[in-house]
Amino acid sequence: MKISSPSILDSIWFKLRKGDYVSGEDLARELNVSKVAIWKAIRKLEKLGYKVEKARRLGYRLLYQPNLPHPWRIREMLRTKLIGRRFIYYKELDSTQRVAKELAEVEKEGLVIIAEKQRRGRGRLGRIWLSSVDDLKMSIVLKPSNLHPVKLGLFSLIGGLAVAKALKNLDVKLKWPNDVLLNERKVAGILVEGKVEADRISYIVLGIGINVNSKKENLKGINAISIYDVLNEKQDLAELTAKVLNELDLLYMKIGDEARILKEVKERLGTIGKLVKVIGLDEEFEGKAIDIDGNGFLLVNVNGNVRRVLAGDVIHLREIA
Ligand code: BTN
Repeated sequence: MKISSPSILDSIWFKLRKGDYVSGEDLARELNVSKVAIWKAIRKLEKLGYKVEKARRLGYRLLYQPNLPHPWRIREMLRTKLIGRRFIYYKELDSTQRVAKELAEVEKEGLVIIAEKQRRGRGRLGRIWLSSVDDLKMSIVLKPSNLHPVKLGLFSLIGGLAVAKALKNLDVKLKWPNDVLLNERKVAGILVEGKVEADRISYIVLGIGINVNSKKENLKGINAISIYDVLNEKQDLAELTAKVLNELDLLYMKIGDEARILKEVKERLGTIGKLVKVIGLDEEFEGKAIDIDGNGFLLVNVNGNVRRVLAGDVIHLREIA
């Protein structure tokens, strides 16, 4: 099942969310649709996990809503200028990145694709991304104008920074280029994919996966953790999504003034000051991570020579003076 938002579901949820009875006739009149259309929309809400009481004469009443990142719930807390002007919510799909990239060819920027269940989540460097319905999985379509493609890498850091800022009650650190760490373990990952044509970016799809309410600590061989593992308390998925999108929108509005963004990134970048192992496409080396440059590339001091790392994997080895 796939739901586009805004739609009639947003309007109906909005009328029902306080938990009072609302008559089908009133809903139909106010939303200017038929009573059958209202009934069908209520059925859809039920399929999405809502419990709605139908009482003769009194009408509909919302009894229960699931902890899921449904667009109407996110919208209520959304303070963005651009991101989230349209959402598409999938109950199940292969990967939000795949859908977002297809739609990026035809849609305006600001589109957000959210999945309840993602069968083949993709990570960086061809890896898989494991998640459950209790985690967040979304992809955002952006089309920055007048931005040179060399700046594309900045978006991994921006995505990570948005997540870190949304989780401001937790001691979250960024790991270059795309990880968000909690207690030195991965709590979120960012995947940036884009299309570049003739020296300009036609679109960027920013994928964000956050381990929220599922238990990750025991995943063998994977250095992952969830917010639930740390707080022992379930988070509201819609609220967290709105917070991340609000932060992301603010950062996106600052594109063009990268210095400000990078300053905030550096404050949270755990990579700097560490001895790191860089695993590039065709080489490996170790050195001290000393800074990031204006395009977000990592600068590593290797025996006195500063090397600029454009891509690849970085392993934090230890803190060095
Ligand atoms: C990584 O750490 O390697 C990046 C992980 C990115 C995962 C997210 S989940 C939503 C979006 N859809 C995908 O298939 N991947 C990204």
